[in-house]
Amino acid sequence: MARRVGILTSGGDCPGLNATIRGVAKACYQKFGKDGVEIIGIQDGYSGLINNQCKLMSPADFSGILTQGGTIFGTKRTPYKMMQVIEEDNINKVKAMKQTYKKQKLDCLLTLGGNGTHKTANLLSSEGLNVIGLPKTIDNDIWGTDVTFGFHSAVDIATDVIDRLHTTANSHGRTLVVEIMGNKAGWLTLYSGIAGGADIIVIPEIPFNINKICKAVEKRAKRGSAFSILAVAEGAFDEDEAKLKKKERARKRAEAGETTATNRIAKAIEQNTGFETRVCVPGHMLRGGSPSAYDRVLATKFGCHAANLIEQDKYGYAVAMKNNIVTENRLEDVAGKTKFVPVDDQLIKTARDIGISFGN
Ligand code: F6P
Repeated sequence: MARRVGILTSGGDCPGLNATIRGVAKACYQKFGKDGVEIIGIQDGYSGLINNQCKLMSPADFSGILTQGGTIFGTKRTPYKMMQVIEEDNINKVKAMKQTYKKQKLDCLLTLGGNGTHKTANLLSSEGLNVIGLPKTIDNDIWGTDVTFGFHSAVDIATDVIDRLHTTANSHGRTLVVEIMGNKAGWLTLYSGIAGGADIIVIPEIPFNINKICKAVEKRAKRGSAFSILAVAEGAFDEDEAKLKKKERARKRAEAGETTATNRIAKAIEQNTGFETRVCVPGHMLRGGSPSAYDRVLATKFGCHAANLIEQDKYGYAVAMKNNIVTENRLEDVAGKTKFVPVDDQLIKTARDIGISFGN
């Protein structure tokens, strides 16, 4: 009997999803033979598992997708916190997912996703399903892995954005504040900020002080730099906000008519220093397009490792990279934990050593 392997992609997409799917599929066909494995593509993440939207794939379906951005299976956000809640449609989601798994006669389920996806993967694993998680996200914030696929592609794109901002900022003698995705973590901003030569990097792990940011911009001007580039993480907050709980912070911002730290920082720079300032929000562009060479290699390694785990019937694990070795963590050990940038990270020190300000 052929093994039946279900694969879904859940949460925000990123470059490298298809490369990972391809890695899993090719390694499975190699290991088990074309008649020894059947791969079932599940549409739109957990939503497809709930609604039994599944398709038997053929080896040809995995050809030519290495370089494709997005995901051939489609994706959706089905929040973990709602997984055990019965909503208006009256569907018991966990029960429905288990039923699909049984109906499709799956031997295992591979879930490609970020923190939320891993939490649901762990839930399904505790419900008795054979689950393997694969770490996807441009945010690089999954606990237990040094790197996630999609992250370095996004770093490359964000770096290109910062490079381009340099030339226009320089021509106009302006301050440019670029907002970079990353959810609550600063990895993407830190890496692209350093790679792009940003002058000031603002990340959630280091709450900022607006006066210090303005001073850093003024200091550059005094030294003769007519422009400044600030890389600001979308999740950044200031020292006062750091004392508040997340909900309270959001409420205060809404009351003040402010949405993002980026806009607030740009406004304050213009008001306090008089320098003409602009905001750039590349947003979802950071998640689009083809994976970088690094991510194609990483995705292939991760995909092959998942196939190795299937071969060993080793389930309830999330694939990970530790000290340059591809390995796995127990899902229950990593689900629900976020990997933030440690404030003593060597990269933070490196940045400070070359004069980058973190606005604190
Ligand atoms: O987790 C990936 C990510 O791109 C975050 O960096 C960002 O905060 C979020 O997803 C955006 O979500 P959505 O695509 O649902 O707007």
